[in-house]
Amino acid sequence: MIGKLIAYLKSHMRRIVFAGIFVAIGIVLSAMYGTAVQYTNTLNFCAHTCHEMENTVYQEYMHSKHFKNEFGVVVACPQCHVPQNDWVHTMGHKVLATFEIWDHWTGRVGTNEKFEEHRLELAKEVWKGFEETNARECKHCHAYSNMVLEDQRPSIRAQHTDAMKIDENCLDCHKGITHKSVQQEAAPAPTNFDIQ
Ligand code: HEC
Ligand code: HEC
Ligand code: HEC
Repeated sequence: MIGKLIAYLKSHMRRIVFAGIFVAIGIVLSAMYGTAVQYTNTLNFCAHTCHEMENTVYQEYMHSKHFKNEFGVVVACPQCHVPQNDWVHTMGHKVLATFEIWDHWTGRVGTNEKFEEHRLELAKEVWKGFEETNARECKHCHAYSNMVLEDQRPSIRAQHTDAMKIDENCLDCHKGITHKSVQQEAAPAPTNFDIQ
């Protein structure tokens, strides 16, 4: 039995060695990918790598409830901007995000002024993304079914009771909660609740 096994291994040595090498390369690549995703998914990376983020959206975010609140919960940029718990979408997102590096180096949004110029355009892209996923990232943390509606002010309760029925996109009513509000420029909707 053992003799047979050894003979088998000997005759297939080449293949076994190659397979071993491929597995090892696979493991190294996955580890590198994992490390890259982990690194680029930190608040530190998102907020401080590009000065255009640091000077603008990050400043506003620092004053938002998703950064500082009575509970001390921090919601980092990727928790809203990168698909959560979904490696296929995350990978797609990271590949697309590398094009942003192009924007950075070509200077399309390289200064605060240029960034502000493109802001509405960028916001529209983000809104479109949330529309496509029906605010999937928001709903990772906030579920309509877990809201204690009785604890909400009656006006808010009424809004959420209706929204819940159609599993409405949170962004229909909650634009500009983390960053400077740009939606007025987009379309002054009759339901503009941005009163913070
Ligand atoms: C990682 C979890 C997480 C994600 C993702 C998240 N939130 Fe929150 N959100 C919180 C927590 C925690 C609070 C409570 C902070 C506080 O004390 O008000 C909060 C507060 C809020 C508030 C009330 C405070 C305010 O800023 O007006 C709104 C509205 C809100 N979230 C909407 C959203 C929307 C819309 C999204 C998606 C774009 C989102 N949240 C994504 C965790 C999250
Ligand atoms: C039909 C409009 C509408 C939709 C859709 C909606 N909200 Fe709201 N929500 C409101 C209004 C209006 C308020 C009160 C004003 C404000 O805080 O912006 C509010 C307030 C809140 C608050 C603060 C509650 C409090 O007691 O202070 C949170 C948290 C919140 N919404 C989360 C969400 C999340 C998460 C979603 C998506 C799952 C969502 N909302 C969808 C209209 C809506
Ligand atoms: C609670 C969810 C949430 C968090 C946390 C968050 N964002 Fe956003 N971000 C949004 C939404 C929603 C938009 C779309 C515009 C809007 O409604 O404000 C947006 C828009 C943007 C835009 C487009 C420009 C603009 O002003 O609309 C950039 C760039 C951006 N975010 C970067 C960041 C960075 C960097 C961080 C961390 C420092 C961050 N975001 C944290 C939800 C979030």
